[in-house]
Amino acid sequence: MSVPTHQAVSLLPTGLAEQIAGRRVCVTGGAGFIGGHLVDALVSLGALVTVIDDLSNASARNIAQAMDRAPDRVRFIQASILDPDAMSRAVEGVQSVFHLAALGSVPMSIEDPARNWVVNATGSMRVLQAAQNAGAQRVIYSASSSAYGNNPDLPKCESMAPEPESPYAAAKYGGESLMRSWAACYGIDTISLRYFNIFGSRQAADSAYAAVIPAFVTRYLNAQSPIIYGSGEQTRDFTHVSNAVAANLLAAVADEPLRGQVVNIGAGVRTSINTLATMIAEILGTTDIKIQYAPERVGEVLHSVSCVDLAKAVIGYEPATTLETGLAQTIEWYAGEYAKHAASQSEAS
Ligand SMILES: NC(=O)c1ccc[n+]([C@@H]2O[C@H](COP(=O)([O-])OP(=O)(O)OC[C@H]3O[C@@H](n4cnc5c(N)ncnc54)[C@H](O)[C@@H]3O)[C@@H](O)[C@H]2O)c1
Repeated sequence: MSVPTHQAVSLLPTGLAEQIAGRRVCVTGGAGFIGGHLVDALVSLGALVTVIDDLSNASARNIAQAMDRAPDRVRFIQASILDPDAMSRAVEGVQSVFHLAALGSVPMSIEDPARNWVVNATGSMRVLQAAQNAGAQRVIYSASSSAYGNNPDLPKCESMAPEPESPYAAAKYGGESLMRSWAACYGIDTISLRYFNIFGSRQAADSAYAAVIPAFVTRYLNAQSPIIYGSGEQTRDFTHVSNAVAANLLAAVADEPLRGQVVNIGAGVRTSINTLATMIAEILGTTDIKIQYAPERVGEVLHSVSCVDLAKAVIGYEPATTLETGLAQTIEWYAGEYAKHAASQSEAS
């Protein structure tokens, strides 16, 4: 069972439809997890959306629903953001560019730092150049809380010095610097949204981020123990994807110039992995399944939580969807997918 789009849209701040309807926008990485949800919301609000995605980590299925619903308002360009011709086609006549395309895997960035840098840093520059040449007003960049690295201070505030600890974090932080410098030098407005552990329907179970949620849900649905690395007392700021979508839309319609500012997009709540496992088990009715503990993973950050005061002040962001509500919706979606898969397996046998 998929989460109906109107449900996601009803969670959006009021008044957005008037400002978004009829607006031409481009979403890079719009076939991905967060990008797909953003495209759904934009289409529901009446925008004219061009998606550019090379499908290196997504399937066109993710935007098929939006294309079916509004074939005259959704255009899909299957190409890399590194392809200047494709990029200029994608941003032609647009007001806002939502830049989400990236290679999101930290381990992959360690294995192949050059590719990570080219897509995540150089790619961001290409997006800025194309947006600037097309006369777009604003680029809204999906940045990452990985920029904070292992800084132990909590909550994470934008005034803290970044300490990127992986090539991925370094390149995403590089993207933020590019956003700021383009706003300063070329007159195009920009903002960087630093996401904390985004989760929701359609997130791949092997995602590098909030993988713990799809992983636990999948294990419980298969009557298997979820595996927790370490004591399970490490904490994270799990943020439902509808909050990230709302942040993007609010950033797009903000009246004041945003001048390359960096703002945290989180829920502002610390949840331990043990608590998360219990919450999921309670929703699924699998509390009888015991948790399995494994040795702590090297280099794991112990605690992370955002301060979202700046995002509130700058774009009026509020983390409207709580972990409880978002988790219930997400689990409903995974359970529906699981049931569909089980039905197709039994039909085939
Ligand atoms: N999911 C999170 O918790 C999280 C946290 C911090 C930051 N982010 C950032 O948010 C953005 C979206 O993340 P996501 O979780 O939806 O990941 P995702 O992998 O689902 O989405 C990224 C999309 O970009 C596309 N892509 C990759 N390289 C491309 C290229 N060269 N040209 C065109 N398209 C390309 C992929 O095919 C994919 O559809 C990324 O920029 C990521 O760094 C995500």
